[in-house]
Amino acid sequence: MSEQLAIYGGTPSVDVSKVAPWPPVNEIDEKLVLETLRGRVQTRGEQNLAFEKEFREWNGNDFALFTNSGTAALHMCLVGCGIGAGDHVLVTAYSWSSSATCILHHDAIPIFVDIDPETFLMDPDKIEAAITPRTKAIIVVQLHGLCNDMDKINAIAKKHNLKVIEDACQAHGAMYKGKKAGTLGDCAAFSFNQNKCLSCGEGGMFVTNSQEIFDQAAKLWSFGETARPEQRRDYHAYALGWMYRNNEITAAYGRAQLSKYDFYFNTLRNNGEYLLKNLAGTPNLMLPYEPEWATHNWYNFNLRVDFAKMGVTDPAEQVKFRDAVAAALCDEGIVASVWQRFILPEMTVFAAKNAYGMGYPWSIPGADEGVDYSLEKFPNALEYSRKHISIVHTLRAPNGLDIAEQVRQGIAKVFNNLDKIDPEKIQAIVEARRKK
Ligand SMILES: Cc1ncc(COP(=O)(O)O)c(C=O)c1O
Repeated sequence: MSEQLAIYGGTPSVDVSKVAPWPPVNEIDEKLVLETLRGRVQTRGEQNLAFEKEFREWNGNDFALFTNSGTAALHMCLVGCGIGAGDHVLVTAYSWSSSATCILHHDAIPIFVDIDPETFLMDPDKIEAAITPRTKAIIVVQLHGLCNDMDKINAIAKKHNLKVIEDACQAHGAMYKGKKAGTLGDCAAFSFNQNKCLSCGEGGMFVTNSQEIFDQAAKLWSFGETARPEQRRDYHAYALGWMYRNNEITAAYGRAQLSKYDFYFNTLRNNGEYLLKNLAGTPNLMLPYEPEWATHNWYNFNLRVDFAKMGVTDPAEQVKFRDAVAAALCDEGIVASVWQRFILPEMTVFAAKNAYGMGYPWSIPGADEGVDYSLEKFPNALEYSRKHISIVHTLRAPNGLDIAEQVRQGIAKVFNNLDKIDPEKIQAIVEARRKK
């Protein structure tokens, strides 16, 4: 195989014509979706109820509600846990925006905690220092499909009487000491958007084992009504609610995908393990780490460029170089991307402290005390945002070890040729393609 990088005209390492798209759809999906489409009920009906039951049983939860997004399910978690205006909620400094905007939507205030440099998750040793008298909950993001050290976090939460909300949007099937994500705190949110390991196009699931949390959260889900899905509605808004329900066709698709999930999970696990084992020792490549407590689902398989070893210290130069490496990997036929360029405290919605205007909720008297979004408080999150590259769809089922081996070759080729990565030249190539 040519060692010339594909971005400079060499042969790509991955034969993309052999890579199956994500998610795989077959006769199981077609049958369930078409049957539902041809049936009479397209809103809240037996497909929703069946999907909730099957998900509950598969994941090990007592209660589940199917929603139209993971963000909706996260918002329901806040309400279920009784979070109110001016309360503080701890959340990792590095995640998807809605891991923290869900807090603002309920008029509470996010308090960011820096990440651990090896797991990329909230650093449990920094949690206690971030707790204020107003803190009511911790949102634990099981990021990239890796569970946090939940024993440690739950012990801190218990000591300070805090609720624990899992953002398990990326963590279907991921485990902590053999227990599944979504069963590790008071309640949890999953996402089923197309990128996720379990997808139905768009959607989410709210789960909990607490009747009380479930009843509270369910009010937000459907216009503030209290009738259970299987009960007759009285169309009375008892509380402030949104419309977070999903439809029957999407539920049918979700059920079909869930029925195949164990195969998806095992395939991705094998591919992730293969890369971990066979890329060890590649120059200037930092591989992800699976702590002893965790079973990763490899939602994102994250590479990092070892800038410390390379002696690249300027943050702007690091970003330029990393982007060029990601572009080179893409040309090798690998779906490689920078998952999040910005850490949460640097996003304007938080930094400007003006979510709903008039400075609310920070302007609630006393609520701003102990709130500090200065970026120097989050050095690990900032560093990670500059050096990581995520490998996503190419490793997903039904793509097996043959494709994983081609991905390995592509990553090895790029990292063995880092001296040939010329950020200016690669940027010009990418720009020229965009203009075409
Ligand atoms: C960590 C995390 N939290 C929340 C979400 C929101 O999920 P959704 O897009 O289904 O609203 C996502 C995905 O987009 C996510 O990756």
